[in-house]
Amino acid sequence: MFPFHLWPLTAHFYRGRLYLRHLDLADVATELGTPLYLYDATTIEHAIAAYRRGLRAWPGEARLAYAAKAWFTLAMAQFLDRRRLGLEVVSEGELAIAEAAGFPPESIHVHGNNKSPALLRRALELGVGAIVLDNLDELDRLEVLAAAQGLTTSQAIWLRLNPDLVAPTHPYRQTGHYGAKFGLSPDEALTAAGRIARHPDLKLVGVHVHIGSQIFDLEPILAACERLIELATALRQRGHVIRFLSPGGGLGQPYHPDDPRFDLVQAVERVARHCAEVWERQNGRIEPPTLVLEPGRSLIARAGVALYTVGSVRRLADGSRIVAVDGSMADNIRPALYGARYTACLPARPLDAASGPCRIVGPLCESGDVLLPAVALPDVRPGDILAVPVSGAYQLSMASNYNAALAPAVYWLEDDHLLLIQRRQRPADLLQRDLPLPP
Ligand SMILES: Cc1ncc(COP(=O)(O)O)c(C=O)c1O
Repeated sequence: MFPFHLWPLTAHFYRGRLYLRHLDLADVATELGTPLYLYDATTIEHAIAAYRRGLRAWPGEARLAYAAKAWFTLAMAQFLDRRRLGLEVVSEGELAIAEAAGFPPESIHVHGNNKSPALLRRALELGVGAIVLDNLDELDRLEVLAAAQGLTTSQAIWLRLNPDLVAPTHPYRQTGHYGAKFGLSPDEALTAAGRIARHPDLKLVGVHVHIGSQIFDLEPILAACERLIELATALRQRGHVIRFLSPGGGLGQPYHPDDPRFDLVQAVERVARHCAEVWERQNGRIEPPTLVLEPGRSLIARAGVALYTVGSVRRLADGSRIVAVDGSMADNIRPALYGARYTACLPARPLDAASGPCRIVGPLCESGDVLLPAVALPDVRPGDILAVPVSGAYQLSMASNYNAALAPAVYWLEDDHLLLIQRRQRPADLLQRDLPLPP
């Protein structure tokens, strides 16, 4: 069975070849050149709708904000704004892209465990929707910067709680346990709240928690929601008005046919319903705050397809093959970093019988430059196009220029239009920051 649930919603077969809408994937890759990334807007719309449907289980107002770190460009910022999503950014760079797209600052909240003074200054200048305080050292800086800035209205602050919970995911993606670098302990959060209340230019309006990414078992997320609401309740009892409650992002995304299926609407509903019950248990009929979810991966991953051209096929004595393509760990570091597993197919003949396992490697000078350690493929020849689904999140946003590899072109498929939204990097781009030594 072809795993259509891992491909964009517009994927289908026509005359034995794989298409997205009207696009023959193998032909489009050959025509536009590879490595190439395609994003299918319909699939993103569908994920947004799933979140919004699930959020109806929350009795108050609910908002959806996108975590820019998953993948972010000017076009993506425009797309999100047109659909009235908020945005979560963590760096001057992400904030600058949002600004360039004209994203409304009041719909942006700024995260980060070590926000630079430049990021804090710009966030204050713009009057972003919220700065999410991560630690007390940051508060020292923020108090000084806010006082120096001459703000006309006070800056809204959320507190990021470290709930001391281990998320069932790769250790690199766990962000909510005591040893993690993120967030305030409950005591620190209460201290921060007191200091913020005494500062004329800062106002505490929200609380936040995010325990990690790529989480399928919701129990630890529900436990984090409880600790978050306990904090909100404690703050309310001390006289603070908490208008925003954010249980972060982190919901799982299947990448491989063996991964568990995951129903996004049901998962969001469960989180929202649990928050509603805990809120009511602790706060009775007090009006619930606005619930803010901030997913990245589960909104964008499935929409992306990576397309590569096969350059060489090496047969090993055990019958397996090493297939070298023109993409690499430079555009997808996830297999090397986390042992992330993917599937792939030859879109010109996706249903041909497999003739044994292939290791898909890139051209970079490192044996860790592996995109898929083992995938069953039919006979593969140089010149064939290879398509890798679920390539939309944490790939291009984590890309590097190792070996001076050039970043792929990115196209956006919306309705029947295929639009270039990020041109392929050129060697001259790599030289843009370089300065020569004097003669
Ligand atoms: C604070 C915060 N919010 C949201 C996200 C998005 O998580 P995901 O892409 O798993 O939904 C992240 C990423 O881990 C994060 O650090």
